[in-house]
Amino acid sequence: MGSTPHEPVMVAEVTELLGGRGLVLDLTLGAGGHAEALLEAGVERVVGLDRDPEAVREAVRRLGRYGPRFAAVVARFSRPPVREGIDGALYDLGVSSMQLDRADRGFSYRLPGPLDMRMEGEGPSAAELVNEATEAELARIIAAYGEEPRARRVAAAIVRARRRGPIRTTEELARVVAGALGARRGGPHPARRTFQALRIAVNRELEELETSLPRVVALLAPGGRLVVISYHSLEDRIVKRFLAGSPELRVLTRKPRRPSEAERARNPRARSAKLRAAERLGEAA
Ligand SMILES: C[S@@+](CC[C@H](N)C(=O)[O-])C[C@H]1O[C@@H](n2cnc3c(N)ncnc32)[C@H](O)[C@@H]1O
Repeated sequence: MGSTPHEPVMVAEVTELLGGRGLVLDLTLGAGGHAEALLEAGVERVVGLDRDPEAVREAVRRLGRYGPRFAAVVARFSRPPVREGIDGALYDLGVSSMQLDRADRGFSYRLPGPLDMRMEGEGPSAAELVNEATEAELARIIAAYGEEPRARRVAAAIVRARRRGPIRTTEELARVVAGALGARRGGPHPARRTFQALRIAVNRELEELETSLPRVVALLAPGGRLVVISYHSLEDRIVKRFLAGSPELRVLTRKPRRPSEAERARNPRARSAKLRAAERLGEAA
């Protein structure tokens, strides 16, 4: 077996819902783990997109062997570069292991690197946000996007630390947050929620999702399916509300589907995953 830089989450559920279809849009291509599984599950054609050019390069390198059945584009999913009717759409939200494991991308509190976190390397970085936002703004971001109950304490510590000089690295920020909150033995890293919050803010992840969902549903042919895997409650809430409020969709998952125990044990990234799916109503053409 070849090495997979990112083990795709809930791959059996995804192929069960989308396998054997015509054209499927993979809106979060990453290293192409799901795309590959879909091609193997008899999907005629997969068009993948990712805002991270490195992800697209890696997926093209891995999946080039499928020839014209696979195409990949650098794009944000809020602006899907497709006109034709599609038979399936897949979102596997968040960051990939490939992004997290590269210290120089600055996503991880575990790896020393520049405080960057930009998925496409454009726009303001996490360091700019941390050093330039007001204390109130930081507290709001960390509370809302990190669901950090002690966000104000973290924001105050960041502002105190940056008075001594800008916070430039993941290590510096992780240290500041750990200093403010204290480390709990055996628990998750104290900076986990703050890092999640900054990543979501830097990449405007929730705005992207809210803009994208109706545009992608408009591309679905009648009977076409939408599948979304999310990893935290903010994303899941957006998806749940959107599905419930869309008259052109029939929801296939009254409750979100969760990964099997075996998958959760094997792949820590799968632990918080929730999958929701829906089908576009209407007469087939
Ligand atoms: C969890 S990974 C996907 C992994 C992929 N399913 C696989 O099996 O290899 C999420 C990917 O979505 C991309 N992404 C996040 N937000 C995006 C957006 N708004 N538009 C396009 N791609 C996005 C990230 O760059 C990342 O590569």
